[in-house]
Amino acid sequence: MTDSAPRPTRQASPDRLAMLGGARAVPRSHRIPAWPLVTDADREAVLRSLSSGRFTTAAVGEREIESLEREWAERTGTRHCVMVSNGTAALSVALGALGVEPGDEVIVPALSFIASAVAPLHVLAVPVFVDIDPRTYNMVPELIEAAITPRTRAIVVVHLHGLPAEMDEIRAVADRHGLAVVEDAAQAHGAAYRGRTVGSIGEVNTFSLNVSKNLATCGEGGLITTDDDGLARRAAMLRQFGEVATKKAERSYVGHLLGFNHKPNAIQAAFTRSRLERFDEEAKLRDENVRRFLGRLAALPGLLVPEVPDDRDHAWHILRFRTDPGAWDLAAGYAGPLRAALMRALRAEGVPAGHYQMMSLPQQRVFRERLGFGGLPWQLPGVSPRAYRAEDQPTALAVIDDSFTLQKAHLSPSAGPLLSAYADAFEKVWAHRDVVARHAVSMEYRTPWETAEGIAADEWAEAAG
Ligand SMILES: Cc1ncc(COP(=O)(O)O)c(C=O)c1O
Repeated sequence: MTDSAPRPTRQASPDRLAMLGGARAVPRSHRIPAWPLVTDADREAVLRSLSSGRFTTAAVGEREIESLEREWAERTGTRHCVMVSNGTAALSVALGALGVEPGDEVIVPALSFIASAVAPLHVLAVPVFVDIDPRTYNMVPELIEAAITPRTRAIVVVHLHGLPAEMDEIRAVADRHGLAVVEDAAQAHGAAYRGRTVGSIGEVNTFSLNVSKNLATCGEGGLITTDDDGLARRAAMLRQFGEVATKKAERSYVGHLLGFNHKPNAIQAAFTRSRLERFDEEAKLRDENVRRFLGRLAALPGLLVPEVPDDRDHAWHILRFRTDPGAWDLAAGYAGPLRAALMRALRAEGVPAGHYQMMSLPQQRVFRERLGFGGLPWQLPGVSPRAYRAEDQPTALAVIDDSFTLQKAHLSPSAGPLLSAYADAFEKVWAHRDVVARHAVSMEYRTPWETAEGIAADEWAEAAG
């Protein structure tokens, strides 16, 4: 960001904005609680796994992985769960298990973590982006319909930030066109849509257990859920070189399919199983903390707090806030600068307001420049030479420009006092709306994607030596 902040003064008054030299609303003594919180029970679980001497799915007699798989299948109400090495691997394996083939098209939302869109590329399928809803940030079912071609095979539905997408409408579109639905529930453990837990609605569904996630492991991990026996069998084969998983002492090492090596680690499973015992209690406390926090912020004019439709339970993985320049007497063109000014003011007060994704997926070089495997999948026979244009998904761009997020700080059940201090900081900033608005109008502004492009160019120059 190249915006120039107003010059700070020496006086640290509590009334003055911290970006102008006032005292921070969030005292430095308020620390972000550790996530994931590691307890003695977690340590014991990891040691138990270490002592077993059985560390992967290939180890005969290994128990932690299959126990986690059984427990997660029970929790999601699905017949099968297959653990893999991470959430991205879970998506590639899920698409492979479905039989998605080179040159097939897979529909993906324009706003997500890059994994949602590179997983199709990993099986040589072509991602096709669909725009998002401006309030739920999830894919718009009607726009999916318009993106379908004879080559479309599957829809990857992301429950972004932990809020379930419009599953019934998406399911109806998929059924009309004979497409498979894959829920990417990496951010949404425990969230529910019309009484159904996410990860139980699509044909085959995926979760991440990365340290940053609501259900975390002590590193990397992923889970695949499905009711379909054949999909579960193929997923288990694809995670281990296409071999038929066997309980026999002798492994055949025969690859019956082109498989990956996405085997998980038993220590990761043991840690997650231990955390699973506290999952419901933590989710309940998080829900209470976040709702209390958002209740205070909802009173601030021109701030759009996350909304939860009545038929859904939010997992509160990430909190996204949009800004409405109209409520600040600013023209619509100032949405981005207002967001930037607010981020600057809030960060100075001690609120770690940040971006989650500085560009939409079609703006990522991988897609824009079609950096595939030697031109594949885009140069496969019959694949249309699709150009990815960010302006085709304008809502994703508007949201990236005019919103900021809070991540991680609210995940711990002990985050209540910190969130209360954050709410004080928001209220303080809002009490100085005139200063913030003037700052927005006078700053030299670059969009998040322009800033990201600048960072990317520097990184690339450094990497190239
Ligand atoms: C929506 C989404 N999909 C997929 C993934 C990939 O998960 P992992 O990091 O475990 O590979 C993530 C991780 O951040 C994610 O947020």
